[in-house]
Amino acid sequence: MEREHDIVIVVDFGGQYTHLISRRVRELKVYCEIVSYEHIMESLSRFPNVKGLIFSGGPLSVYDVNAPMIDKRVYDTGLPILGICYGHQMIALQFGGKVIRGEAREYGKTKLVIEDKNILFDQLSKETIVWMSHGDSVLKLPPNFKSLARTENTLHAAFSHNIKKIYGVQFHPEVVHTVEGKKVLKNFLYKVCECRPTWRTSSYINSSLDEIRRRYSGGKVICAVSGGLDSTVTAFLVKKVVGENLLCVFVDNGLLRKGEAETVLKTLTSIGLNPLYVDASKQFIEKLRGITDPEEKRKVVGETFVKIFDEISKKHGPFKYLAQGTLYPDVIESARVSGPASIIKTHHNVGGLPPNISYELIEPLKFLYKDEVRKMAKKLGLPETIVKRHPFPGPGLAARIIGEVNEEKLYICREASAIVEEELRRAGLYDRVWQAFAFVGDDKVVSVLGDTRYYGYIVTVKIVTSKDGMTADWAKIPYHLLEKISVRITNEIRNVSSVSYCVSSKPPATIEPQ
Ligand code: XMP
Repeated sequence: MEREHDIVIVVDFGGQYTHLISRRVRELKVYCEIVSYEHIMESLSRFPNVKGLIFSGGPLSVYDVNAPMIDKRVYDTGLPILGICYGHQMIALQFGGKVIRGEAREYGKTKLVIEDKNILFDQLSKETIVWMSHGDSVLKLPPNFKSLARTENTLHAAFSHNIKKIYGVQFHPEVVHTVEGKKVLKNFLYKVCECRPTWRTSSYINSSLDEIRRRYSGGKVICAVSGGLDSTVTAFLVKKVVGENLLCVFVDNGLLRKGEAETVLKTLTSIGLNPLYVDASKQFIEKLRGITDPEEKRKVVGETFVKIFDEISKKHGPFKYLAQGTLYPDVIESARVSGPASIIKTHHNVGGLPPNISYELIEPLKFLYKDEVRKMAKKLGLPETIVKRHPFPGPGLAARIIGEVNEEKLYICREASAIVEEELRRAGLYDRVWQAFAFVGDDKVVSVLGDTRYYGYIVTVKIVTSKDGMTADWAKIPYHLLEKISVRITNEIRNVSSVSYCVSSKPPATIEPQ
């Protein structure tokens, strides 16, 4: 991969949009990796094909005691650089300009006036709407820099170096609210860095297969499959390389959706993965009894899974390798800048397995984003049920049952979610939303059935739209469809009195209620 494609490095300063920048670059067909600002010089020697650097935003002010500062030697490499927000201010400061604190705060959409027709702004309108999110701003440019654009409150909203290919923008070209943001990134990648747009679906497949071949040197491989996109694509790719040495295991934890075990087994068998089915539902439900705390429930599900997985691997092993569908955001979260003290987080829950497991890991998707994996699944010819399946959390319905997980609430949650999915499919909306399900807690309300009053559960329907699960909006689905879902839930599911619709977005709510 490193030799085949031009690479742009997104240098991370802890900004909330770092992944978004990286994804935008890849959408423009240029391969991109995220590297912490602390490791930039090592990374430059690791990748022979780096064509440019993009400095991300960050949560700190350049004047904070722990403000991250890039090794100034990068400025002598001759590589094109684009600084965004914090990156823009840091460049100005390091070259001898002046940044002021908090006087000209700008949050949200604002009008950018382009004053200098620069290559970075090629094909942009003279006035264009951009997204700002900053407290500090560049007050005085360093020597040898010129201003390219301004907004009402920011004098130097963009600048460039007079000789070097160094640029800064105070706004965020990576967010969709910056109307012509994609053009700015495109200009930087194609015109300034002169990158070739070679990164495409077949590239992801080849690089993933290369990653497996690089790791694998014979022996048995075990892979836990759930029927979800990531684990299925992982197993499918691994199978291509290791053949019969792969054992796929499908653990039924009793927290699956209606008919899910049967459907998953059928689908995975149809694509040649022939999973070993292990029904551990009783163990999981037993372990969850009496537990009401959401985090505790997640922990119990994780630990029970590990125990069962361990037993299976002892029985069918020995296995030298564990294959899992870790994605790029999971990997990068474990090593990125995360606030003032540059804390290095360790990622413990990738694939739900603990770090002390003694297998070698095969993670063919670890350089990819979810949308890339989805495209890849399509290209590999995997069934639509997998390509288009909504995400489902590892802890399953335990994440959708408030309070103790018991058979009654599991039944309600399962049946109600099946109705939600079925009605959305019928209305042709299933593929247009990110997730759609029902959740239930312990609260009960009065209901009248004939002449009898009884207390029944409240079921909450949740349907959200999202691009990546990081943020989400509640879906504005038609009232008549909500009504149909509600009527079916109270008619068809015993002990349900009332149906509500969740109209909270993320943030502040998370997608899963537990
Ligand atoms: P939240 O609830 O954090 O969820 O807004 C964001 C996305 O992640 C999924 N999710 C999980 N996926 N294991 C998973 O594999 C988990 O423990 C887990 N928790 C949440 C959730 O369904 C949503 O798409």
